[in-house]
Amino acid sequence: MQKDCAFQRCINPACAATFDILQALTACPSCGELLDVVYDWDRLPVPKSLSDFEKRWTSRTAPLDFSGVWRFRDLLPFASDEALVTVGEGQTVLYHNTTLAREVGLTGGRLHLQYVGFNPSGSFKDNGMAAGFTHARMVSAGRVACASTGNTSASLALYASVLGMQAVVFIGSGKIAYGKLAQALDSGALTLQIRGDFDDAMRLVQEAAAKLGLYVLNSVNPFRLEGQKTIMYRVLEALSWEAPDWVVVPGGNLGNSSAFGKAFMELRDLGLLKRLPRIAVINSTGARTLTALVGEKNLSWNSGAVDQDTVARYYAYLDENSIRAHTLATAIEINRPVNLRKCLRALDVTHGVVREVPDEDIIDAKALIARSGPGCEPASAASVAGVKLLVDEGVIAPDERVVAILTGNVLKDPDVPVKYNSLKGAELTKALGLFSTRPPRYQNLPIEVDADLGSIVNALEGGVS
Ligand code: F0G
Repeated sequence: MQKDCAFQRCINPACAATFDILQALTACPSCGELLDVVYDWDRLPVPKSLSDFEKRWTSRTAPLDFSGVWRFRDLLPFASDEALVTVGEGQTVLYHNTTLAREVGLTGGRLHLQYVGFNPSGSFKDNGMAAGFTHARMVSAGRVACASTGNTSASLALYASVLGMQAVVFIGSGKIAYGKLAQALDSGALTLQIRGDFDDAMRLVQEAAAKLGLYVLNSVNPFRLEGQKTIMYRVLEALSWEAPDWVVVPGGNLGNSSAFGKAFMELRDLGLLKRLPRIAVINSTGARTLTALVGEKNLSWNSGAVDQDTVARYYAYLDENSIRAHTLATAIEINRPVNLRKCLRALDVTHGVVREVPDEDIIDAKALIARSGPGCEPASAASVAGVKLLVDEGVIAPDERVVAILTGNVLKDPDVPVKYNSLKGAELTKALGLFSTRPPRYQNLPIEVDADLGSIVNALEGGVS
């Protein structure tokens, strides 16, 4: 990287204030909007072709070339090679899933699943943390902090432990899957269980950071999203650098969708990608702010002049009616997504769409995914449930090429599949906090047998009633 070739810029075109790369900011000090990391490509080497990145596979014994984030470092050149942080993140698998394609109404071979659960901490967050921690070290951050529904905190705790930094995580008490809580605790992060939900934790981490000088690693940190752009580079790489028609991703705090949009926008502007995929962001019906604002209130990017009154009115409506986010897909249990405006920009650039799916569809999709591949955590399955909905609606045509992002590892939240596969009727509805008594479509009930061979044979031969 050449000096001063990267800087931070307010995403509000009417402000567009710029800031040095060495400032630790989560919002524009002038107008309060989100910030982008931007590059002066006139002074930086522009990659000649995307396929050149594949050559780095041959030198993957070098940690930076092994990293699925830093293999693409020329597309996020804000730090020198010596400054880059890696724990081996970004190993993803894009696999065809013909069984699932048929189930969701696509022609066989048209559905690809991008499984991001192989990351060191088991979710896509590591892509962002590699870049975020690189910046944290560049600015000599002291304590690093985040609010989290679980995966951000697991990832932050892992990187902090490797780098010997102090980590503080803010989580909504009882609002986090056990696997994720275990990770933060095991990695030694100071874990604050806030008596509230993610939206409370997010507000509080920002207030605490302002007071105590914590370095915030939520996706309001623009460097986090630089790392998450690489998820899309790897999708393109796995498809021989041809854009799919659709990228379908669960929406929570809307960091991923924002990062994906920025990745595509930049590749287009650099002349490296001619046709952009459309992005579909999928909410759970229990945490549907994006769907409500875009789908019902027609909120849009509007060239950067986002109608803030509509957003404020919606949040006031949530408050007046004491509406809190509620979904078994706890990772996306968020009603005040911090990246809302960046996501609107991504939807604008990619002609994207937004939908919501009920928890019942999410867990059925999750069960189905696990029957034909490595599985995923509940929130991740919203992507596949969303594909089905969009195909049913005729928005996605059966022969379009679709990539659904499986954002987190199947083992993150074992509680949900155990309940899904072992409870029935009202008990299941209650245990999973479902809104309906619709029976699960892919339940696999365990069979209890006596500890003798006869009973086992009976069970396997279908003799057990
Ligand atoms: N899927 C998983 C598994 C997640 O952990 C998250 C977010 C999302 C999807 C939504 O992604 O926020 O980029 O729209 N998890 C955050 C956390 C909020 O704290 O771990 P997004």
